[in-house]
Amino acid sequence: MRSLEPFYFERQDNCLYVLNQKILPLKIEYVRCVTCEDVVKSIKDMTVRGAPVIGLVAGYGFVLGIKEFFDHYAKRLSEDQINKKKFFLKYISDLESKLVSTRPTAVNLSWTVNKIKSFLITKLNSTNISRKIITLVLAEMKNIHQEIISQNLKISKLGYKLISKQKDKCVILTHCNAGTLATGGVGTALGIITELHRHKKIKTVYVTETRPYMQGARLTMFELISQGVPCELICDNMAGFVMKNKQVDCVIVGADRIAKNGDTANKIGTYSLSILAKYHNIPFYVAAPSSTIDTSISDGDKIVIEERSEEELKIVNGKLITLKNAKVYHPAFDITPAKLISAIITEKKVYRYPYKF
Ligand code: MRU
Repeated sequence: MRSLEPFYFERQDNCLYVLNQKILPLKIEYVRCVTCEDVVKSIKDMTVRGAPVIGLVAGYGFVLGIKEFFDHYAKRLSEDQINKKKFFLKYISDLESKLVSTRPTAVNLSWTVNKIKSFLITKLNSTNISRKIITLVLAEMKNIHQEIISQNLKISKLGYKLISKQKDKCVILTHCNAGTLATGGVGTALGIITELHRHKKIKTVYVTETRPYMQGARLTMFELISQGVPCELICDNMAGFVMKNKQVDCVIVGADRIAKNGDTANKIGTYSLSILAKYHNIPFYVAAPSSTIDTSISDGDKIVIEERSEEELKIVNGKLITLKNAKVYHPAFDITPAKLISAIITEKKVYRYPYKF
């Protein structure tokens, strides 16, 4: 069985449905997004999460925004195409800023929204501003999604080739969730793992629970179990003990943004795992599409780290687990220095340190 689709666009009602990842795996429920604002909210409150998927969902949010333009604004504008275009260009650049600013660390948000916006701007040179544009941007969003699906597949094949050489049956450790739910394709880190499993190369996968949002416990375990991959859940603070005692062959994680020098932003806890892996002589791999590489940023220090609300740390299953007035620090990502990464697996090639993209 394949994992659940993280979202789908329904042509019948022209709405985007996003899988509510906050309540998985206990409940399967899709949230209907009618407007761009609905999409903004679902990304901000993490109903939908995972770097490539938030990019795709934001792209569809852009499409919804364009639809809103024709439903509410277009009629009120004069027929003068020049004035209409001026207004429209300002409208789409506001849409872009609104969507890109929903979460700061993952570069995929700006990558996708920028791609769809540039497509639209090119089209505007040869098309009048009419409802026909909605169909055009929707079709382009589907192409972008297809591109991500095929990049995921290539990553899984290249990663398989690299890791299957290592051992007959591998023990792998992974962190957070970099599967279908986070990417919309077979996944990056999890794409490689499921490809290894298809070739019967997996002994077991240790999945860190990934406090506080529990992407590992709730989402990665759900995806691996649905696909029959042998896996065991561990608490984040068990990783060192597991590496020392369970012959872990490699660590594979995804990425939210990779700087020009290879420093990588990924879910909080990744950096600690990379140090543990180094100490235990375990290869540490990052798997991500090349669109996650942001060559405009020289190194990891310049990557903006998202800080999330204190409630996400203090409240578990609706219950306060510390003092009401406890002060909280809650960075959602950390930076793993390039030096600690054995290889970066993209759809184009497997890069090795020192990274030159
Ligand atoms: O905060 P999230 O859940 O949106 O975090 C993003 C992630 O899922 C990961 O850090 C992941 O490794 C990159 S997405 C394939």
